[in-house]
Amino acid sequence: MIKLWRCRICGDPYVGDEPPANCPFCGAHRKYIVEAKDADVSFDVQINEKDLGNAKPALEVEVSNAAFYFCAAKKTDDPEGKLLFKALGKIEAEHAAIWRKILKLDKIPEGSEECFEINRDNLNESHRRETRAIEFYSKSAADAKNMRIKELFTALVEIETDHLSLSEQRL
Ligand SMILES: [Fe+2]
Ligand SMILES: [Fe+2]
Repeated sequence: MIKLWRCRICGDPYVGDEPPANCPFCGAHRKYIVEAKDADVSFDVQINEKDLGNAKPALEVEVSNAAFYFCAAKKTDDPEGKLLFKALGKIEAEHAAIWRKILKLDKIPEGSEECFEINRDNLNESHRRETRAIEFYSKSAADAKNMRIKELFTALVEIETDHLSLSEQRL
């Protein structure tokens, strides 16, 4: 039966018979996707200085990675690479939107990043960026005082780990 689902991580809705294996917007794993009528999803959280100190750079990481992937999607010399980087750019932009909501900003800051023409160079840069994000988010999840912030960082570690696998399969 067709149902309305909602992702707990990005908050976006999805229509389908079954919950998707991964959120089509933010890449969150299936365990975070619940029926919309039962979803208790909030971005209005009280966060302490330390969590705030991790949420702000998390927004910067996502803005920077989205800009890099959109650049790579245009410039890379491999047709499948273009599609991969487009998909990853959209997901990272969705991650930036999560932190925009948490930080209660009106809009997401503009990103501008360099990228490469050679696909392999972009895959190496993707690997470097995702490794850095995973390290930072793992530490931020462990340190988080607020349970919602902990949930977000934990889900992001899982998602960025999937992105790392995508570059590793191609390098
Ligand atoms: Fe999502
Ligand atoms: Fe991300």
